[in-house]
Amino acid sequence: MPRAAPAAPPRFVGSAACAECHGSEFRAQSGSRHAKTLWAMSRKSLGKAAPQAGLIPGTGFVISSISDRYFIASTDQPNMSVPLDFAFGSGKTGMTYVFVVKGSMLVELRSSYFPHEKKWYVTPGQERLNAGDVGGPFPRPAARACFLCHAVTLPDDTVTPQARFYGVGCESCHGPGSSHIAVIRAGGSSETLMESMESWSGTRVNELCGKCHGTEAEAREQHLSSEMTTRLQAVGLARSQCFKQSKDTLSCITCHDPHTNVGANARIYESVCLTCHSGSTRSRRPPALRLLTIRSCPVNQRAGCIACHMPKRPAITSSKIPTYMSDHLIRVFSKSR
Ligand code: HEC
Ligand code: HEC
Ligand code: HEC
Ligand code: HEC
Ligand code: HEC
Ligand code: HEC
Ligand code: HEC
Repeated sequence: MPRAAPAAPPRFVGSAACAECHGSEFRAQSGSRHAKTLWAMSRKSLGKAAPQAGLIPGTGFVISSISDRYFIASTDQPNMSVPLDFAFGSGKTGMTYVFVVKGSMLVELRSSYFPHEKKWYVTPGQERLNAGDVGGPFPRPAARACFLCHAVTLPDDTVTPQARFYGVGCESCHGPGSSHIAVIRAGGSSETLMESMESWSGTRVNELCGKCHGTEAEAREQHLSSEMTTRLQAVGLARSQCFKQSKDTLSCITCHDPHTNVGANARIYESVCLTCHSGSTRSRRPPALRLLTIRSCPVNQRAGCIACHMPKRPAITSSKIPTYMSDHLIRVFSKSR
């Protein structure tokens, strides 16, 4: 059906603007790690994830807090403190603090804080800096890239987002929503100016998530072999036989609800494996796969699939921090691992 052309291109409005009409998606998504992956560096927003003030162990730097804000200073020059601006990461693992210099350059601290352990570790990627370095500089394009994966959108002329766009929000996946809201409010139109993704192909969904969860271009740039795509889930999945032979039906949302966190219960994921890998029962498969012969496991046909075929492996090998993530290149691992 042709679409009526909107008067102006749609603008981003922020997730809060969707809450009124899509309450259940909003409640689920606003509590997710996606939504919490970027914070203003203030005591009020960080809450329990806030760092303790004092010396960062093994470094020459001190974190201090004055009223609601945090500062970093060298122990040599305690009076030359710099305010910290943002915290990246939901706190599931590490949180990385940054400050912005002259509105255009980001400095990522060399130490990252792990709120669950209340410990500091060297920020992955900064292993080569000295303990005397405060952190690594990210000039404008790289600084913008950080925020474009950890926030919904950025103005063209700055490196930092507005507060209503912090975190991965509705419009990170659904696209800008102003025209949709306007046409619904005006009433009388059958066109919603918002695309449903339910019928998207596997490739299209994987590429949407892959904007942030890994592209083939990134894998090539980092010279990652097939064995080492653990951190780039969209690359790993695309290279799996499960995807390649799925007639474009297998995607991130076959296993993940895009509005919530990962599930802790492996059985839920295993039941997804078994929709395709349960021998003769074909009725639970996507219709396009019902005639295909798909092998079952010669080792265990009922359970344990994830631990053996999607094991947690170190995702950042340069780092001393244990960075285990589930390998999305679904395959048979040799016994030695
Ligand atoms: C004033 C109410 C209202 C607001 C605000 C609103 N929507 Fe909707 N939305 C609707 C209605 C009504 C529909 C169509 C009926 C349905 O499927 O629920 C819809 C449909 C959708 C769909 C499914 C599209 C389809 O055709 O199946 C998506 C996705 C969506 N909205 C996302 C958003 C996002 C993202 C925002 C915020 C940027 C938003 N909506 C804000 C009322 C609203
Ligand atoms: C705009 C960038 C972006 C997009 C698009 C995106 N993600 Fe994410 N995703 C992130 C970031 C950043 C995190 C890390 C959140 C944190 O700090 O814990 C994350 C974390 C996750 C997690 C882990 C959550 C947990 O409980 O630990 C899952 C699962 C996930 N994303 C799935 C998806 C899927 C599925 C899609 C596509 C439908 C998608 N993501 C699209 C940026 C994105
Ligand atoms: C291409 C998109 C992308 C860019 C660019 C990006 N991130 Fe992320 N970031 C992610 C995704 C996806 C995750 C969750 C999965 C993971 O850890 O790889 C994440 C996770 C994190 C985490 C949580 C720790 C963890 O491993 O779970 C921190 C902290 C973080 N990013 C900081 C940054 C900072 C600081 C920058 C810029 C210097 C940056 N990110 C650039 C996509 C991105
Ligand atoms: C990480 C990507 C992602 C984010 C963030 C996200 N969604 Fe979705 N959403 C999807 C995908 C993919 C689907 C389609 C698959 C499904 O129904 O599970 C979907 C489905 C929907 C639907 C059902 C529409 C339909 O196709 O029938 C609505 C409504 C919706 N989202 C609204 C929202 C709102 C509101 C937010 C923010 C509070 C949000 N979404 C955040 C990816 C996302
Ligand atoms: C959408 C259907 C589908 C889903 C869901 C699925 N697979 Fe597959 N998988 C396939 C197809 C098709 C093949 C290739 C044909 C074959 O091996 O019989 C395959 C191949 C495999 C292989 C052999 C890989 C190789 O390189 O030879 C393993 C192991 C596997 N799948 C495990 C899993 C596990 C574990 C899960 C759940 C985490 C899973 N699959 C989910 C369809 C699927
Ligand atoms: C066949 C099922 C399956 C598919 C398809 C799938 N995932 Fe996962 N994913 C899992 C399992 C299982 C876990 C581990 C959950 C846990 O922590 O127990 C996981 C975990 C994750 C995590 C958290 C990383 C970690 O281990 O800490 C992210 C991020 C993620 N998936 C992103 C994606 C993205 C993006 C896609 C699409 C490219 C995708 N997943 C497709 C099964 C799947
Ligand atoms: C204890 C580890 C373990 C568990 C649990 C396990 N697998 Fe396997 N799987 C293997 C090994 C090892 C092979 C390779 C066997 C061979 O080549 O003889 C394999 C092979 C496969 C294959 C390829 C078929 C073939 O003929 O080579 C598929 C598909 C598969 N597994 C799916 C699954 C699914 C789905 C589950 C969960 C219901 C599962 N596996 C549970 C270890 C396991």
